[in-house]
Amino acid sequence: MKSVVIKQPQELVIEERPLPQPAAGEVRLRVQSAGICGSDVHIWRGHNPFAKYPRVIGHEFFGHIDAVGDGVDAARIGERVVGDPVVSCGHCYPCQVGRPNVCTQLQVIGVHRDGGFSDYVTLPARNAHKVPESIADREATMIEPFTIAANICHQMQPGPLDVALIYGAGPMGLTTIQALAGVYGVKTIIVADRLDARLEMARANGATQVINNSAIDLQAELEKQGIRPTLIVDAACHPSILPQAISLASPAARIGIMGFSADPCVISQQAITGKEITIYSSRLNSGRFPMVIDWMAQGKIHPEKLITHQFHYTDVVTALELFEKDQNSCCKVLLTF
Ligand code: NAI
Ligand code: MN
Ligand code: ZN
Repeated sequence: MKSVVIKQPQELVIEERPLPQPAAGEVRLRVQSAGICGSDVHIWRGHNPFAKYPRVIGHEFFGHIDAVGDGVDAARIGERVVGDPVVSCGHCYPCQVGRPNVCTQLQVIGVHRDGGFSDYVTLPARNAHKVPESIADREATMIEPFTIAANICHQMQPGPLDVALIYGAGPMGLTTIQALAGVYGVKTIIVADRLDARLEMARANGATQVINNSAIDLQAELEKQGIRPTLIVDAACHPSILPQAISLASPAARIGIMGFSADPCVISQQAITGKEITIYSSRLNSGRFPMVIDWMAQGKIHPEKLITHQFHYTDVVTALELFEKDQNSCCKVLLTF
């Protein structure tokens, strides 16, 4: 089989590898399509602190089961499935309290173990979620990015009274906007980004107001309009955003962060406690695949709105470079296998 392998930082090869055999409790997927994510580029460029090399990248993948290991029902062969990249131990404290995404033994497929940019990938059978026929292949490939939005939304519990502010209209911001609008019934969704093209996508995905915060001071603009956001999601993840979010938030607001920057930022107790602000953080997803499959099957979210390009995996370098360089024309890029 062929696999997209990052041998070491900056060195990508398409390599012939032996067909992997599913271990006990695992299934093997014949991958049909996979989505490119910023973290794939970070592993390629050597900027992901968790990655071990050589590594087959890709954690957003769809295909069908073509083999099963011991203890897995052979009737699953042929099933159309999407893979949850979060592999957890099931015993530790986070696993026991329903937070397998921060398992003490966490293994992310495509980061800590070989991923989905490959003709075949193996994964625990419980990580392979059946996709109903009503969800098309391309849409199914988008389930994983929506689980990130589902995870943060599940924590923050948005509601119709909320005035939402989303920083960043990349895939993470856009999936969150769709969930807020289509699932949680949030009526006011303000989106800030530094690129007009991304703000146009935000509108197409359900934003009710967009603000280019490279051109204007976001906080001053919201104050001028008398807007105090009650639910803020930082899907741009610059360290400067949290202090601003705390400052412009309504009393009793919730703020959700998703970033991995190691750079510090300055926040004060007074600014948080004075308004009794709740700060959530969210990493990957904790068992949110069934929820997102349900949203998609019910037509509450529209994954096609994010997909701008599709390439065959043999063009993976072209695809990654486009994804990396052109945020104006490019949002979600799919690879086919
Ligand atoms: P992206 O790079 O496609 O989108 C980020 C957007 O934020 C861009 O459109 C950019 O113009 C905008 N932006 C940058 N600085 C800004 C600022 N100061 N104010 C407003 N907008 C600003 O990235 P993507 O894929 O949407 O991911 C966003 C972030 O989420 C990344 O930092 C990524 O590491 C993180 N992430 C976190 C996950 C988690 O589970 N916690 C999972 C996936 C991504
Ligand atoms: Mn991703
Ligand atoms: Zn665990």
